[in-house]
Amino acid sequence: MSMTIAVGVTGASGAVYARRLIGALIQAGADIHLIVSPLGRAVAASELGDSELLTPAVAGSARLTTHRHDDLFSALASGSNRTDAMVICPCTCHTLADVAAGRGDNLITRAAHVHLKERRGLILCLREMPLAHIDLLNMIRVSEAGGIICPLCPPFYGAPKTIGDLANEVVGRVLDLLGIPNDLVARWTRPDVGSDVTAGG
Ligand SMILES: Cc1cc2nc3c(=O)[nH]c(=O)nc-3n(C[C@H](O)[C@H](O)[C@H](O)COP(=O)(O)O)c2cc1C
Repeated sequence: MSMTIAVGVTGASGAVYARRLIGALIQAGADIHLIVSPLGRAVAASELGDSELLTPAVAGSARLTTHRHDDLFSALASGSNRTDAMVICPCTCHTLADVAAGRGDNLITRAAHVHLKERRGLILCLREMPLAHIDLLNMIRVSEAGGIICPLCPPFYGAPKTIGDLANEVVGRVLDLLGIPNDLVARWTRPDVGSDVTAGG
């Protein structure tokens, strides 16, 4: 059975991750319910240049349903509507704070609250640097409530060469968290560095 995933896109830097994530989920056969915040739309437009947040293939896919950010009458606002999980990518500190506080005055934060209260998966791909103490406290609060904080921190051990490679490393890990098989991630294997690697100063 295919998965149904709610995806929120908020106004943090990193629209390239959202574009890849939505494309990878559709490619994996998931049904997507997409909500983009006003700042999410504006930041994506400024970062993606000529590219759209949704590729033409994704925009035309029957698997994609879009929802208005202010539509609190949407099915996503109710726990009676079945989804498997929600990912917010990228996630701002503003949306993190609202989720941590249990606020639900837009569809992204309301749907996030629904996923926490219904004990479904909630993954927040936070993007900020450095982090304020209050962000750290908010992350702990969401984590304690069952959410997963998955910061947008791609690893470099896969020797990424392009921005797309970096985005794949993060998107693949999000798919891992959702239980969706993928080959986007460079899987760590022990490198051949000799036996005295821990002996140095
Ligand atoms: C170009 C631009 C980049 C931004 N990048 C970030 C960011 O990386 N992380 C973040 O927490 N906020 C960032 N912000 C600030 C948020 O967009 C702002 O707090 C906004 O109120 C978030 O609303 P939303 O969470 O509903 O999308 C950025 C704003 C702009 C205009």
